[in-house]
Amino acid sequence: MPYPLHPEYGEFPQVRLRRLRARGFMRELTREHEVTMADVVWPLFVVDKPRARHPIASLPGVFQLGRAELWQCAEQALRQGIPAVALFEVVPAAAKDQVGSLAVTGDAFMPQLIAKLKAEFPSLGIIADVALDPYTSHGHDGIIDAAGEVLNDPTVAVLVQQAVRLATAGADVVAPSDMMDGRIKSIRQALDHHDLHHTAILAYSAKYASALYGPFREAVGSPLRDRPDAKLTYQLSYDRYREALREVAFDLKEGADMVMIKPAAHNTDVVRGVAHGFGVPTFAYQVSGEYAMIKAAAQAGWIDEAGVVMEQLVALKRAGAAGIFTYFAPQLGPWLAG
Ligand code: PBG
Repeated sequence: MPYPLHPEYGEFPQVRLRRLRARGFMRELTREHEVTMADVVWPLFVVDKPRARHPIASLPGVFQLGRAELWQCAEQALRQGIPAVALFEVVPAAAKDQVGSLAVTGDAFMPQLIAKLKAEFPSLGIIADVALDPYTSHGHDGIIDAAGEVLNDPTVAVLVQQAVRLATAGADVVAPSDMMDGRIKSIRQALDHHDLHHTAILAYSAKYASALYGPFREAVGSPLRDRPDAKLTYQLSYDRYREALREVAFDLKEGADMVMIKPAAHNTDVVRGVAHGFGVPTFAYQVSGEYAMIKAAAQAGWIDEAGVVMEQLVALKRAGAAGIFTYFAPQLGPWLAG
């Protein structure tokens, strides 16, 4: 791409850049980036109930869904052209334990749910989260020792089992969101060992320890809800960029097909660096706190919700994102059309 200030571009007054903005049709013709429904993934919280629609206080408009309501969302996704949903299980506190047993044993709610969903809606992409935090009583993404240290290799061993279970059930993509070292390599090996060559891995490679995860943690009932620094021994601290690229490089070398950067809006530099530097499908997650902030300000009448959301999503595409995980997914239809 030629340098934007190259002398051949001319100068004022022969050139007036406002000519490109003066009319609506001109702005449309010269648009560089846009968001379509095909760019969007819809994150959904599911509970082991035939019917449920429990509101989540800090995520207005987002609900913990039972099976019937999940089916309705799947139909809506297909109708609106949303290519995939990302599923997160909500486990009752009494069913959680120190090691997150339900992730790999128990009544296997999530694998069964995925199998049925896939049977009913074969063309809807299913992205299954791989991490232990919905299942552990302490709320960490892995197994902890007596001192509270999150243990890397024992956690990876469990994540591998979880990933194989979800993939065997029919998940198209497994998405390890835990940030343990070496988990992509072990998961890829195990998937291949089980002939699950077509199951893709979306690695949450650059996941910053963020104060914006609070509403998500409320949604899954995590005791770490109000402790943004609780996961600093495994998630990235936000005072670094190069380390994010190293994480991506490691995960790609270990077999990741796609990578995730999150939160989205604070880290568009990382999205750009990864998308342009590695040339792999790079996703951004507009996380729960980003959604909550926009909703709160919009409900107070202080900002225009559609305007802010579209601006943010297009900015992420402009940064190079292949797609965006957003809780606004079911609302986007009319905004994209208009
Ligand atoms: C944990 C996980 C988190 C989110 C997705 N997976 C929270 C955390 O790391 O504590 C956050 C997503 C959001 O805030 O919307 N495996």
